[in-house]
Amino acid sequence: MKPKILVTREVFDETLAYLAQACEVESNQNDAALTPEALRQRLRDKRGVMCCLTDRIDAALLAEAQQLKVVANIAVGYNNIDVAACTARGVMATNTPGVLDDSTADLAWALMLAAARRLTEVESYIRGGEWTGWRLKQWLGVDVHHATLGIVGMGRIGQVIARRAAGFDMRVVYHNRNRLAPDIEQRLNAAYVTKDELLRQSDFVVLQVPYSPETHHLIGAADLKRMKPTAILVNSTRGGVVDDAALVDALKAGTIRAAGLDVFENEPRLHPGFLGLRNVVLAPHVGSSTEATRRAMAMTAAKNLVAALAGATPPNLLNPESRATSHEPRT
Ligand code: DGY
Repeated sequence: MKPKILVTREVFDETLAYLAQACEVESNQNDAALTPEALRQRLRDKRGVMCCLTDRIDAALLAEAQQLKVVANIAVGYNNIDVAACTARGVMATNTPGVLDDSTADLAWALMLAAARRLTEVESYIRGGEWTGWRLKQWLGVDVHHATLGIVGMGRIGQVIARRAAGFDMRVVYHNRNRLAPDIEQRLNAAYVTKDELLRQSDFVVLQVPYSPETHHLIGAADLKRMKPTAILVNSTRGGVVDDAALVDALKAGTIRAAGLDVFENEPRLHPGFLGLRNVVLAPHVGSSTEATRRAMAMTAAKNLVAALAGATPPNLLNPESRATSHEPRT
């Protein structure tokens, strides 16, 4: 008998076809996020779940999902999953690293360029029929080329962002929990600095740290004050890494020049202050959203799930210790 699994949100046809070869698939293809209660009900008899950042997989849910062996997140970030609770219950948790690095880095760059050259402002100006002709001082932006780029969080995606900076002749500084090996620093042409130094020196500050209690409000009012008044902040990692209320105040007061944001605290309900500001470029958490990348993410999650249920170690296992606590069925 094939193991029963749940796919919580819409995925691609090929993802479902792949899963159906090995599993009895129940899927929520109308793409409305399941309520916590609906998720709880549907997971009662499931061995696996393929889920997204909109699904909260916590200890209370796991306590009732007695058959569950694997939680396969369709994302690299996994702050929606209580991994420790999974481990305690012998449930494997997986994510999708690697396949989205380039697309996510591209979006960080898109936000940087759009904020620097005021693309959303000029677009609404032109669409509004206000353009009457060329003027020397029209819509003056700031240069990206030859500026200093500061990257906070130099993991895989941070490193891809840094690599692209060479094409813009930028100076790159970075801050990370652990300093990179000298050969990697050299290859990326990136200098390690403290967080304060990075904030003081950078023309563009790009955040690429995962969200956790340690990175909650990593950028708050005091940090924004340390930045140059001409600086641009880009957050394309996770809401909550920035104190959004403090950022709205800083953008209003001119503490920093502008921001480019793909993620927000409490998304999709963003801080209302952002909507009234012209010096912020807004995107609805689409960092990895290219067709090829989202297909690859879904297939990576599916392969993790199928491997786990086949008794193998899934390629992107977050909690190898879970295998020691695993027993079946769980009680
Ligand atoms: C991720 O993979 O963590 C992204 O934020 C989802 O698009």
